[in-house]
Amino acid sequence: MKIEQGQSALLTGGGSGIGRALAVALAGRGVRLSILDLDIVQGEKTVRLVEEEHAKISYKPSNSPSAIAIRCDVANSDELAAAYARHQDVFGRLHICINNAGVFSTKVFYEDKSWRKMIDVNLTAVIESTSIAIQAMKEHGGLILNIASSAAFMPIELFPVYCSSKAGVAMFTRSLAHLGMGIRVNAICPEFVNTPLLVSLPPSLKDYLKENLGYVEMEKVITAAISALDDESMTGECLWVQTHRPTQIWPDEETKGKQKVFKKDGTPFSTLSN
Ligand SMILES: NC(=O)c1ccc[n+]([C@@H]2O[C@H](COP(=O)([O-])OP(=O)(O)OC[C@H]3O[C@@H](n4cnc5c(N)ncnc54)[C@H](O)[C@@H]3O)[C@@H](O)[C@H]2O)c1
Repeated sequence: MKIEQGQSALLTGGGSGIGRALAVALAGRGVRLSILDLDIVQGEKTVRLVEEEHAKISYKPSNSPSAIAIRCDVANSDELAAAYARHQDVFGRLHICINNAGVFSTKVFYEDKSWRKMIDVNLTAVIESTSIAIQAMKEHGGLILNIASSAAFMPIELFPVYCSSKAGVAMFTRSLAHLGMGIRVNAICPEFVNTPLLVSLPPSLKDYLKENLGYVEMEKVITAAISALDDESMTGECLWVQTHRPTQIWPDEETKGKQKVFKKDGTPFSTLSN
């Protein structure tokens, strides 16, 4: 499966940043959306943007709205399940799930317990959302895209828990490469993107980013996300979206060749080297 006009997507954290930009890009392809966010006002704004995109391509869904906003804390199991149920009621079927909602903190984890929230939102909710999406997609197939981060494979001393949560998402995604049921699960792993998520970065790191590393262009992030959804050969991959180099699959083929991948019955895939 790949993106087609008339499909419906459930997108978490769609009220801002990467999520909003993805909603607009999918709307430009005629996809209808449920925008889940803690912030319903921002979610509603994204809904308006989706409607505008549909109007631009003269797409008018016949038996559903273009998009709906659902106030949902993805870390709350009941709210997440209710949001999926609402999506099915309004759109009839789920074709695409995008696990994008994320939180970030530079508070020192051994001094402040708020790190648990990062694991709950960035990792646990992604696993829970994916499990609900698979149940909804198992008859007809579907597309799942997780928004991880390059922090998944680059140790950053300032935010070890964020790195851990994203490493979890990347490995979860890779481990689902052979899920089957016509469902493809992939992830994108962008470097720093200039969004409200980064407000809590220390000024010294902000200055470094501004003067040295820079930010990944949002357009590049969206191109990677859309390619993962569209490329029917891509499954269980993590796309590393870099600021100064082309997007590439991580890890590279040579590294992958050295890793064993075990099938559900416990035997290694025969295509891999010993
Ligand atoms: N900005 C970056 O540098 C960067 C880089 C790599 C990956 N990412 C990842 O991209 C994703 C989107 O980040 P962004 O930069 O667009 O951030 P953002 O802060 O602009 O948007 C995140 C959205 O998620 C929502 N959200 C937060 N907690 C939620 C919850 N519990 N339930 C529902 N919604 C919730 C927020 O309200 C917000 O609308 C995140 O997973 C983030 O970790 C960001």
